[in-house]
Amino acid sequence: MKRLVIVSNRVPAAGTPQAGGLVVALVGLLRRHKGLWFGWSDALADHPDPEPRVVDRQGISCAMIDLTPDEHRKYYLGFANGVLWPLMHILPGVVSFHRNELETYRAVNVRFATALKGLLKKDDLIWVQDYQLLAVPAALRDQKVGNPIGFFLHIPFPPPVVAAISEGLLGLVRDVLAADLIGFQTATDAEHFAQTAALYAGARRVGKLGLSLGDRTVRLGVFPVEIDAQEFARVTKAAMERRPAQDLAHNLRDRALVLGVDRLDPSKGLVERLTAFRQFLAAEPKWHRRVSFLQIAAKSREGVQAYRSLLRDLERIAGATNGAYAEPDWTPLKLVTQSSTRNTVASYMRHARVGLVTPLRDGMNLVAKEFVAAQDPDDPGVLVLSRFAGAATQLDAALQVNPYDPDQIEEAMRRALTMPLAERQERWRDLWDVIKDTSALAWGEAFADALANRKMARTKTE
Ligand code: G6P
Repeated sequence: MKRLVIVSNRVPAAGTPQAGGLVVALVGLLRRHKGLWFGWSDALADHPDPEPRVVDRQGISCAMIDLTPDEHRKYYLGFANGVLWPLMHILPGVVSFHRNELETYRAVNVRFATALKGLLKKDDLIWVQDYQLLAVPAALRDQKVGNPIGFFLHIPFPPPVVAAISEGLLGLVRDVLAADLIGFQTATDAEHFAQTAALYAGARRVGKLGLSLGDRTVRLGVFPVEIDAQEFARVTKAAMERRPAQDLAHNLRDRALVLGVDRLDPSKGLVERLTAFRQFLAAEPKWHRRVSFLQIAAKSREGVQAYRSLLRDLERIAGATNGAYAEPDWTPLKLVTQSSTRNTVASYMRHARVGLVTPLRDGMNLVAKEFVAAQDPDDPGVLVLSRFAGAATQLDAALQVNPYDPDQIEEAMRRALTMPLAERQERWRDLWDVIKDTSALAWGEAFADALANRKMARTKTE
């Protein structure tokens, strides 16, 4: 079995395993492949050592480099999260361009490739992750790295007219084409990428999922990220016995819980969602005191202006909602910006009558899958899901909504809260059938297998 080298902006955190299902899955994959994980240390230094530090974390080898404060500001907060993230989620109004950020983004990608090169072995499979590192495949090729290179985009790819809003992104499309295999969450993302590469990066389309550049072919693939559904269901049951779950039950009394779990991010549709809840309370006095909405919106990327102003907007809506409707023993809307552990969130999901997963656009959205896995089959909650989340292509039996339209979210909330038990059970069974046999590890293996099979990927002349 070939060694697998994962390259991502973040590496697994030290200490307790991280909450995210994906990190858990990739750690499992790397243990199996005796692999290496390369990325940013999460630390800043004025004069970073160009040589990576190699440490053992969660049983796998992690190699890390520090960033300078200037690199962090221009590469991570700037071009990656101030330009690429909003454009990829079709939020051009949130994009904020600043001089020199693209150059720094590229320079950091080159630094990643240079530091990684010294650690590589001849037979390694290299798998680069996500939008922060689009220039790494080309930077590795510039350093004469001939190993197979795969790239997976965890977030959506927009249609060409949107991608073209940043010439920088169009240049990065060309860079990522230095990979042999490029994976996406949905067929739509792969199609948007292929169209953009053909229009702006000099690629020719070969069949549905191939591109050619000169004498080489780049394969595109669709690999929807999965969770370990059975394991999540087990974790949830255990978590129900613990303190946070019991405190929540106590505070709720017999009120129905409406739940949202997100990072605090402009792509998550939080303003529209909170507005929908406010409209619901205005229209439904009979639900007053009978329903509570808990929105966990864990603070994220606070150095980016759009994230800070979103927090202010949400606080304003939450304050106005509670100001209008709260009673001494009932707070209709709780906005929590601290992050919670995976177990606690799982137990909240099982308590919830309604799960609101309404991003304006999302690569996949694993919260939607976790919500399904967390339910009690005898008395399941109802998933309200954005049509524009990657998960919507798989989870047909959810109540799907247009996340831009608070009226639709409000109506789905009403329907979910009053849905007869038999319909809840039937919808839940259909959703569970989609996810019950999947695993994050299988997802990773599928990509690694496809990458190892380089047939038609690169020609002898390279
Ligand atoms: C999304 C991205 C990941 C990113 C994560 C957390 O899931 O696809 O690449 O790591 O958000 O964001 P952060 O900026 O904290 O790494």
